[in-house]
Amino acid sequence: MCRPQHFTVSYTINPWMEPANPTDTALAVRQWQTLYDAYLALGHEVELIDPIPGLPDMVYTANGGFLIDGVAYGAKFRFAERVPEGPAFMDWFRAHGFEVAEPESVNEGEGDFLLVGDVILAGSGFRSTDDSHRELSQIFGQEVVSLTLVDPRFYHLDTALAVLDPVEGPGGVEHANIAYLPNAFDERSQRILAERYPDAIRVSDADGAVFGLNSASDGLNVIISPRAKGFEAQLRARGYNPILIDLSELLLGGGGIKCCTLELRGRA
Ligand code: ARG
Repeated sequence: MCRPQHFTVSYTINPWMEPANPTDTALAVRQWQTLYDAYLALGHEVELIDPIPGLPDMVYTANGGFLIDGVAYGAKFRFAERVPEGPAFMDWFRAHGFEVAEPESVNEGEGDFLLVGDVILAGSGFRSTDDSHRELSQIFGQEVVSLTLVDPRFYHLDTALAVLDPVEGPGGVEHANIAYLPNAFDERSQRILAERYPDAIRVSDADGAVFGLNSASDGLNVIISPRAKGFEAQLRARGYNPILIDLSELLLGGGGIKCCTLELRGRA
């Protein structure tokens, strides 16, 4: 994670960002801290990367790369404003014992790549390219399923789809389930998701619109926005334990819970 010490909205690269609206950096830090504390309370280890002045979007660490088994596929950002974040994250990965695969194609890391069991779901349409999906499968040698996003409000895969059972290995793979917002995807992608995940939670447009899917799950506890009331009820009905954390200030930059979180999958 990255403390939003330099958080502000000074440019527009997604429909949520409006530089004319004031931001409250202290409030962003307080809200972020509740997420950090929640992870620790749930028993997770959280590593921090130092925020760099002039890179206000660095708080959205999900975009910093994609890691499996100690290997980090670096990010190559679509927009100039975020390009310097790519090398900053790669330096951090190297300094912390991860092997770095330098990216050739534009990709925004775990914002668009989500590991579900032993399959990688990969988004394109706004940020990460189809070429990056090919690069991803070459690097990790795992099946990559490309999905196309069509609604500019949901420009990263993690704004439209959540992994509910992020468990690797026996048992986890078969039962790994997801939640998603059908209308954020084109018809072909909707068909793929319906076929592969018949038991998925389909989230309402209202819950999607408050970034309900930008959430983090350990397979039981699912940290979600308090505004996603319908999704909260759907999760409870399935036996998950929703934990409500409000990151309203960070939503001004177009990000939420998952965006502020990059999973560091080390060597087994
Ligand atoms: N302002 C950032 C951008 O538009 C927000 C990134 C949100 N991150 C995410 N994983 N969806 O790039």
